[in-house]
This record gives sequence, structure tokens and C-alpha cells, in this order.
Amino acid sequence: MINQDKFNTLEQKNKEALKGGGAERIKKQHDKGKFTARERVDLLIDKGSFQELGRFVTHRSQDFGLDKNIPLGDGVVTGYGTVNGRLVYVFSQDFTIFGGSLAEAHAEKIVKIMDLAVKNGAPVIGLNDSGGARIQEGVVSLGGYADIFYRNTLASGVVPQISAIMGPCAGGAVYSPAITDFNIMVEGSSYMFVTGPNVVKTVTHEEVTSEELGGASAHSTKSGVAHFTATDDLDAIEQIKKLLSYLPQNCEEVSPEIPCDTLDEANPELNSVVPGNPNEPYDIKDVICKIIDIKSFFEVHKNYAPNIVVGFGRLGGKSIGIIANQPMYFAGVLDIESSKKAARFVRFCDAFNIPLLVFEDVPGFLPGTDQEWRAIITNGAKLLYAFSEATVPRITVITRKAYGGAYDVMNSKHIGADLNFAWPTAEIAVMGAKGAVEIIFRKEISETKDPESKLKEKENEYNNMFTNPYIAAARGYVDEVIKPEDTRNRLIRAYKMLENKVDKLPKKKHGNIPL
Ligand code: HXC
Repeated sequence: MINQDKFNTLEQKNKEALKGGGAERIKKQHDKGKFTARERVDLLIDKGSFQELGRFVTHRSQDFGLDKNIPLGDGVVTGYGTVNGRLVYVFSQDFTIFGGSLAEAHAEKIVKIMDLAVKNGAPVIGLNDSGGARIQEGVVSLGGYADIFYRNTLASGVVPQISAIMGPCAGGAVYSPAITDFNIMVEGSSYMFVTGPNVVKTVTHEEVTSEELGGASAHSTKSGVAHFTATDDLDAIEQIKKLLSYLPQNCEEVSPEIPCDTLDEANPELNSVVPGNPNEPYDIKDVICKIIDIKSFFEVHKNYAPNIVVGFGRLGGKSIGIIANQPMYFAGVLDIESSKKAARFVRFCDAFNIPLLVFEDVPGFLPGTDQEWRAIITNGAKLLYAFSEATVPRITVITRKAYGGAYDVMNSKHIGADLNFAWPTAEIAVMGAKGAVEIIFRKEISETKDPESKLKEKENEYNNMFTNPYIAAARGYVDEVIKPEDTRNRLIRAYKMLENKVDKLPKKKHGNIPL
């Protein structure tokens, strides 16, 4: 039988654990502008729905004085509950306990909820705030990490996995968020790097701060590791909730539908959105927002590779994944970063039954030694592969340029798109007029008395012939040339028609995407 004194002591500890550590530890966390692990869970999970698992778990280490410091829960709060009524599994690392460091018991708790999530088909949300592998527990900590990485990989494509980085995330610890589907980083208080500033200085002699090396800004603009940034913990949690609203619970389900008042109104403003001058930019986000349900666009990777825009939206209340060339940046050209960004997004949507909508205005792939030597070939192929493999309903709207290989890549019918629409402003050709005539009429132009006007004449000839959607439409490569104002209406009907699409890939173990 349990002795009463022991029970009282445990109850006291239990209360402490529930508060998220002693008052002093909580204050330390608040002083850094951060919430505690429990406060974060409370903010995320619907009131009263959180069911904690493993609150009494403790570490078993005897070394380096750990035998005298055995906090309940071992530095991570784990359990399940609902977000807006839908089941999720969550772990929240407690920096106030051994710096949130991960070791045997801490890892076992995370593994337990990941296994439950996969078996029961619900998303896993990780709130990361940790000094990494618990140094005192040595290789056992490393093993704990590997147990998690393995499960992240097995769960990939089965249930959505979302990581919020709300403090340090360094060393091998970064690889769990890296495998998950989305990373949200809190500005100013989070950082991620494989090796910190000290090691960087020793090895490369670079002087860099943690923030510069791996803060939210670095990872949301330069590396693309972070899909979202948040101003603080609360903002990060609100973004997780918003993101979840577009996603299904698992790969066997479809996303929830949100009732939508407006259905198929024409929007005449769209008729003049593409400028008359083919070299003049316009904001593709304007186009997106004028077509999809009002205020439903939720951009992913907003500040990374801005020449392509990706994000979730809704059409008639149903979730879609949007991929759009952005003429505002580098004329919407495809390069290494934009190809990788879009490819990963396409694969996520396809894995979770979210139909794809592409807006195409692309002058081609970015030329140059930098791109070639950093493998635009392999990286561009990622996007081609991702679209080709996707079996969800897929529609493209060509608003203006669809040039060269980029025409093929951007969800053309040839690689399995269900429908391609084009606006009358579409230009579908191997390349732009100037480049084309300089190649095919080089001799004729150079031999004439007035090469300048000959060039112009040939350009006009080429433009009249190719820079329109009708040759592609005559072949059936474009299903319909539609008025821009009717786009929303046409898309809603088209996705309805594709609602029960069944498409299967050839039997295989797995493909070999050009990584
Ligand atoms: C054990 C740790 C710890 C760790 C922090 N603590 N990190 N305990 N193992 N990895 C403890 C500290 O001892 C301290 O305990 C408390 O957490 C708070 O830490 P502070 O240093 O006071 O906090 P702060 O100044 O905010 O600095 C945070 C920090 C720093 C930058 C994260 O603690 C740090 O550099 N920690 C070590 C990071 C690291 O090298 N981790 C291993 C990475 S390698 P007290 O008792 O004083 O409050 C790795 C390999 C994984 O993770 C491989 C997987 C494949």
C-alpha cells in the first residue's frame, strides 16, 4: 500500500508539474517573452479537452547528480485533445526542466503519442523548446532522437505533422522538425542550426550570432526551413490552428468543408488584371484572392523564393492547394528554390487529398552558371516529378506566359493535369518572340539592309502565330479559353466534376524523386 506521506509528497510534485514547474522557473520563461510548456498546450487545445499522458514519467539516470533531481514528466508535456473539435496529439517541451533536453524517458513519451497518432489517424503537433540531447544521459539521448526521427518518417504522408520552434532547436534535434510537414518559428526567441556560432567560428572563422545563423528570419527567407514565422508564442499557436483548418486528419480523409456564402459570381475586375504589355508585372496574389473564397488564402513560405507563391485556400468552401508563378519577382521565372518550394507543397497536398490549382505565368527556367552548377536540372525535375506523380484533382489556369519547359512542368495536361484553362491573354510557346526570331531568322535578319525592322517584322509574325492560347486549344492541350471573370465559376464546377476522381500510379515500392 502507498504510504500517506509519500502520497502527499507526490501530490505536491504533481501540482508543481501541472503548473509547469516552480514559480521561479515559470518567471524565467515569462521573462524571455515565452509561455511555459503547459501554457502553450492550454492555448492550443480546446478548453477542457486535453488529456495528459505520462505526467508521472521520470528519468532513470543516476549520473551527474540526476539521481537527486527527478522531476515528474521529464521535461515534456504529452497528450491528446481537440483543436476546434478535431483530435490532435501534442508534445510540448518544457525548457524549465533540464533546458527541455531530450533523453530516454522524454523521448519515450513523444514516441508514445506519435504511435497513437498514426494508429488513430490524427495530426501530431510538436512544440519544440529544447537544449537538445540531454548531455548527462549520453547515447541514450541520441537513441531517443533516432526513435523519433524514425517515427517522423513513417508518419510522413499518413498524418499531418506540424512543428513549432519556440526556443532553441540545435544539433541533430533539427531533423525531427525537418522531416515534419511544416515548421513555424517564433521571431526573436527561436533558432535552429546543426552547429552553433561557436563551432562555426572554430571551423570556418565566421563570426555570426545565433539569430543570424538560424533565427526565424534566416530560415524563412534564406534556407526555407521555416514555412511560417510568428511574432510570439500566441501567434505561432494561432497559425497552427489556422493551418489545421485546411487539412484532413489523415491520408484517408478529406479536409473539412467551411460553409461559403458566395459561390459562382463573375468578377469583371479580373478581365483587366493582366497588363497589355507582356513585360509588365502584376501581383498574382491579387488574382488568387479575386478567385478563391474571400479571405481564405493562407500563404506558405511567404518570404522564401517569392517568384512562386504557394498556399492553401478554399473554393466553394473546400480546401485547395495553390501554386502560382509570381510575375512581381524575377518575372515569375522558375529557379532552384522556387522549384523545391513548389515541389514539396505539391507532394504534401497530394499526400493529403488536397486538390491542386495552378496559376501559370512563367517565362521559363532561370539561365546562368549559378543555376546550372547548383543543379537546376535536378531541382527543376523535382517539381516536374511532384506534379507528374500527383493523383489528386489538378487544374491549371494559364493567365499569360507558358513558355518552354516550364509549360510542361507547371501542371500541363501532358503530365497528368485533369484540366487546363487559358485566359485570352495566354502566350503558349517554346520561348518569347525576340529570342525565338533571333534564332530561327538569324541569317535572314543579318543579310537584310535594315536588320532592326526585319527583326520587328519577324517578331510580329511570331507573336501573331504563337503568343495566344488557340494553337494549344486546337490540339486540346488547353481545354477551354475562358474569360477571366468566369474563372471562379469554371473552377468550382470543374472541381465538383473531379470530386470522385480515382487515379492510381503503377505498382511499385516507391519512386525515386530526383533529390
Ligand atoms: C542537459 C541542459 C542542456 C542539455 C541546457 N541544459 N541544455 N541540460 N542537456 N543539452 C540545462 C542547463 O544546464 C540549465 O540547467 C538549463 O538547461 C537552462 O540552460 P541555460 O544554459 O541556463 O539557458 P540559456 O542561457 O537560455 O541557454 C540555452 C542553450 C544552452 C543555448 C540551449 O543551454 C546550451 O547551449 N545548451 C547546450 C546545447 C547543446 O549543445 N546540446 C546538445 C546538442 S547536440 P540549470 O540546472 O542550470 O537550470 C544534440 C545532438 C542530438 O542535440 C543528436 C540527435 C541525432
